[in-house]
Amino acid sequence: MKALTYARYGGPDVVQISDLPRPEAGAGELLIRVHASAVNTADWRLRAAAFPGIMAIPGRLMFGLTRPRNPQMGSEFAGVVEAVGDGVTRFAPGDRVFGMQPNGGASAEYIAVAEDSAVAPMPEGLSFDEAAALPFGGLCALVFLQDFANLEQGQHVLIIGASGGVGTYAVQIAKALGAEVTGVSGPDSQGFVTGLGADHVVNYRETRLADLPGGYDLVFDTVGVASPGQALGLLKPGGLFLPLNFGLREIGAALMNPLRDRKIRLEVNPDRAEDLTRLAALVAAGKLRPVIDTRFPLDEARAAHAKVETRHRQGSIILTMPEA
Ligand SMILES: NC(=O)c1ccc[n+]([C@@H]2O[C@H](COP(=O)([O-])OP(=O)(O)OC[C@H]3O[C@@H](n4cnc5c(N)ncnc54)[C@H](OP(=O)(O)O)[C@@H]3O)[C@@H](O)[C@H]2O)c1
Repeated sequence: MKALTYARYGGPDVVQISDLPRPEAGAGELLIRVHASAVNTADWRLRAAAFPGIMAIPGRLMFGLTRPRNPQMGSEFAGVVEAVGDGVTRFAPGDRVFGMQPNGGASAEYIAVAEDSAVAPMPEGLSFDEAAALPFGGLCALVFLQDFANLEQGQHVLIIGASGGVGTYAVQIAKALGAEVTGVSGPDSQGFVTGLGADHVVNYRETRLADLPGGYDLVFDTVGVASPGQALGLLKPGGLFLPLNFGLREIGAALMNPLRDRKIRLEVNPDRAEDLTRLAALVAAGKLRPVIDTRFPLDEARAAHAKVETRHRQGSIILTMPEA
């Protein structure tokens, strides 16, 4: 089978297409024929060993000190269950599924995944490309906004990076939760962010964070541009700063902060099947739609990686697999 691989860390040119043996469904596993995958921020960070903040050393310890431990790339997928291993009860051959495999291997014609990992039935009515656009940004936005921030009806959230991989879904999910949304993005994305449902848009090239009026219940920074001091200054009493990338500065601020009435919370997305099911329910309710910036065929994966690494895109970057 064709699979996206890399033998060393580096720029998009380290990305290769290799012929690998097709995996098999072991006990408790599904073999999935992948029809669409994606390239997301975690994928390019892994490829470049560009682990953010305090993850610089732990990242290499986890994923390979001098070169990648798992040469297979890709974390998001949508496809059809081809076979199931012994003991699988929740899925059957022919099921259309989507999911997230943070350890890699999803950008391939086939992937074997554990039944109890982040895999779930695809939302009704979506194409494979659309379903593959959801897991990374959708899961992160849903879990951070609803579970970690408890965002509620009528609260005002500032979403920094509102047009990106996570922000595109964060704007929609915040609106689905009934919040008032201010989205921060670049000059070319203002209309796009309004189209996602944002109530207000801010162009970061014209307006500095320090010049915003403040009074937010939640500051959700998906880019890593707000310092803790800046973000806390934008919150109303009782508000929360939720950064997606954090280093020693944010950890120090969080440790110093527990007695103050403006909070910082540092979290990592758990990537769970039950949250994929919640995403599918939002799609079914018409409250969330996949947003695709560009589709690349698998053999143009280097261009897809280069695009994601620019940190300027409007939604997900999809890799379409060769048809069987
Ligand atoms: N903690 C966790 O569990 C977790 C989970 C998932 C992701 N993450 C992290 O979250 C981050 C977000 O990923 P992503 O895929 O959403 O990133 P992304 O797609 O690269 O973000 C792009 C967004 O950032 C904006 N942007 C670019 N430069 C900017 C600047 N100088 N100032 C303000 N905004 C700027 C872009 O605006 P324009 O294009 O409009 O200019 C766009 O809205 C990643 O670093 C990822 O590692 C963490």
